[in-house]
Amino acid sequence: MMSIIKRNYSLKKHNTFNIDVKAKYFTIIQNEKQIFNLLQEEFSLKEKILILGSGSNILFTKNYNGIVVFNQIKGIKIIEEDEKYSTIKVGAGEKWHDFVLWSIKRNLSGIENLALIPGLVGASPIQNIGAYGMEVKNTIQKIHFINIKSKKKIIINDFDCKFKYRDSIFKNQLRNKVIITNVIFKLYKKPINNTKYGEISNELQRIKKDPSPKSIAQAVINIRNKKIPNPKKIGNSGSFFKNPIVSQNQFMKLKIKFPDIVYYKNSSKKIKLAAGWLIEHAGLKGIRKGDAGVHKNQALVLVNHNNANGKEILSLARHIQKIIKIKYDINLETEVNII
Ligand code: FAD
Ligand code: EPU
Repeated sequence: MMSIIKRNYSLKKHNTFNIDVKAKYFTIIQNEKQIFNLLQEEFSLKEKILILGSGSNILFTKNYNGIVVFNQIKGIKIIEEDEKYSTIKVGAGEKWHDFVLWSIKRNLSGIENLALIPGLVGASPIQNIGAYGMEVKNTIQKIHFINIKSKKKIIINDFDCKFKYRDSIFKNQLRNKVIITNVIFKLYKKPINNTKYGEISNELQRIKKDPSPKSIAQAVINIRNKKIPNPKKIGNSGSFFKNPIVSQNQFMKLKIKFPDIVYYKNSSKKIKLAAGWLIEHAGLKGIRKGDAGVHKNQALVLVNHNNANGKEILSLARHIQKIIKIKYDINLETEVNII
């Protein structure tokens, strides 16, 4: 059966920046059959298509002149078990945090540090969501998707997803070309208890809990609630920019000029810098242009104080990029998808 298509539909409730734009067409899909039906409809061949999850990593700068497809494919099911792992198939329309809670309840481990990240499971591989010392790529085994042009269903292995920090094949070669329908995860039966992110061990001590998937998730929830503004209270998309990665050479130069610069060493020779620090120390924390602003406590988060439109938020973002380039000679890349 064909799903219902709405015309000239407001997306305000479908993006966490609360931007009031309209989609020419809007539809909800609940299974793969509905996707194949939609792609066969004559009108859909002429229109561009945008797949939408919770809209927590999107900035709409204008009305969407095409079809917005709201992914609501549900289901969480264990499909294989061995001594070490449970393999789980999850519908792209499940809420990410609900899946984290589901895993903790079964004492499965691997995604507990990613508790409370907004959005749906289908979007989790797109930018390889990460937080508090974990990235989703470490638990993804396979991804099912439908290619919009060829209308074929494809299953891709984790290796072929080209996962990197806030990046994957879905943000590059396959950008806007596929509809992810299910994600297959492999979770550990033995807790991995990843507490290498210092704040987690401090919070566990504070709440007097030993590490377990449940207590780590609770610690992460507590930390996040203190640090990251709640989109239900003030429109935002989490970190607006990625943390920039620079060479050792560039880092050494910056460190001489800015001895307090905050950075993370990773396995490669490159250095990741805290963009929040760069923005704050360029004097931009808390600034406001109309209703578009930089959050007063977390400079990496841009906010919609009330009625900003997407163009105003984008203009503030461009201003920040310009100042950061002048002050540090660094190009800040946006993490948020600008539409
Ligand atoms: P959307 O914003 O709806 O879509 C994001 C992109 O994915 C779009 O380009 C969209 O077209 C595409 N897409 C979505 N679903 C599909 C699909 N099924 N098939 C194909 N394409 C699809 N991210 C982190 O990594 N770590 C964090 O700690 C974090 N914290 C956040 C905190 C807050 C308060 C907010 C608002 C955001 C945060 N984010 C974080 C960003 C965001 O939660 C993630 O990027 C999340 O995965 C987006 O999910 P979504 O369903 O809202 O995707
Ligand atoms: N900092 C400042 N001023 C600020 C903000 C941060 O100086 O206004 C410095 C502080 O020293 C702080 C450090 O930057 O210790 C890091 O800040 P924070 O712990 O808040 O993390 P982040 O680097 O800003 C990244 C992710 C978040 C993720 C957290 C926790 C990116 C782009 N962002 O933020 O992800 O939740 O780490 O792991 O990698 C998201 O992607 O939307 C997101 C929220």
